[in-house]
Amino acid sequence: HVLVFDWSITLRPPRRSYAALAEARSILENELDGIRVAGTWKGERIITSKQGPQINVDGSRGTILNFCANNYLGLSSHPEVVQAGIDALKTYGAGLSSVRFICGTQDLHKNLEQKLAQFHEREDCILYASCFDANAGLFEVLLGPDDAVLSDELNHASIIDGIRLCRAKRLRYKHMDLSDLETKLKESQSSRVRLVVTDGVFSMDGDVAPLQGICDLAEQYGALVFIDECHATGFLGQRGRGTDELLGVMNRVHIVNSTLGKALGGAAGGYTVGPKPLIDLLRQRSRPYLFSNSLPPPVVGCATRAVELLLESNEIAQTMTAKTMRFRNKMTQAGFTISGSAHPICPVMLGDARLASVMADDMLKLGIYVIGFSYPVVPKGKARIRVQISAAHTDEDIDRCVDAFIQTGRKHGVVS
Ligand SMILES: *Cc1c(COP(=O)(O)O)cnc(C)c1O
Ligand SMILES: *[C@@H]1O[C@H](CO)[C@@H](O)[C@H](O)[C@H]1NC(C)=O
Repeated sequence: HVLVFDWSITLRPPRRSYAALAEARSILENELDGIRVAGTWKGERIITSKQGPQINVDGSRGTILNFCANNYLGLSSHPEVVQAGIDALKTYGAGLSSVRFICGTQDLHKNLEQKLAQFHEREDCILYASCFDANAGLFEVLLGPDDAVLSDELNHASIIDGIRLCRAKRLRYKHMDLSDLETKLKESQSSRVRLVVTDGVFSMDGDVAPLQGICDLAEQYGALVFIDECHATGFLGQRGRGTDELLGVMNRVHIVNSTLGKALGGAAGGYTVGPKPLIDLLRQRSRPYLFSNSLPPPVVGCATRAVELLLESNEIAQTMTAKTMRFRNKMTQAGFTISGSAHPICPVMLGDARLASVMADDMLKLGIYVIGFSYPVVPKGKARIRVQISAAHTDEDIDRCVDAFIQTGRKHGVVS
């Protein structure tokens, strides 16, 4: 018996579904018009080269300098990282066609998990297809109805979604506000497990969570501490281990989520590191881990080499700070307001949404690729251009960016 697919079914849908499709189309078009009218439409610029400090963009002549990638260490197109991906592709194939627990775990995956645990100095590590998934999987496993989660009001969308999925009591404390956190810890004293949840670094402002104060309070009230380190792993702290290293609390933060999609080669993937029983339980119960395909071997190969480079030497991680300070100091001297502290996320504060968008367009005409952010991504009246410095930028790249800001800033009356 041979199964023959009847293509005419897809070519000639029954009459009734035409009407349904037309109705759905008009509902979707209305929704899209609403987004355009609100001015929150997100376009996508098409890059025709590798990711890096210099890129080519469709419709723009010559190379342009890129200041809006999360490619903090320039590892996205590092020759050794790329070669490791090619080697893994040849040895291990394109993908596993399986989830981890059926037949989707290679020695390659175990090796990367072990290296990431070593990098963060935690007991064990579990890999996910993304950090978004890591965040979606954690809370549901760790926390039940008798527990409580205390989270910063400005945490990343993936954390907010993850928390929505769990049945624990939810308390939100004011952004980086320790006294409000203490109030919430007192309020939740009857809960079994309490987990304080914060981004290590907040991506819109480049501000660093007050982890020493958070750990002090957590210890005083018997709570656990979880941090999302997507914008810190690889370059914050002496050895690039993250916000917990920068603030001297590596042994006081219990669980860390982070991504392979930013500083660590930029391909894809996320992970959780923490106590072994937690990681073991996540492998048994975490839904995004159980029901999504294994990370492809080339992706694992690239990330493994990226982590090895950071384990072998602190040099790449340390060049980051000097580059960041060069940009921040020159911009401040020129009269711009840069928010956040010494982080490579450097938000150039402009206030007005239209100004941020027009200035970003003018910067592109000068060969500098930056993006304006406005409401609802950031609060109303706090529009900005978010510049991201990479260790791969040369001093000349940074100076060219500052010069372009001064030129466009004068044109629009932002600086004199
Ligand atoms: C980027 C980011 C994520 C998502 O990471 P992916 O691996 O790309 O899914 C999660 N949390 C924070 C704070 C991020 O900045
Ligand atoms: C961290 O990752 C785990 C899984 O890796 C996920 O279940 C959890 O929700 C994440 N937590 C946060 C706060 O992002």
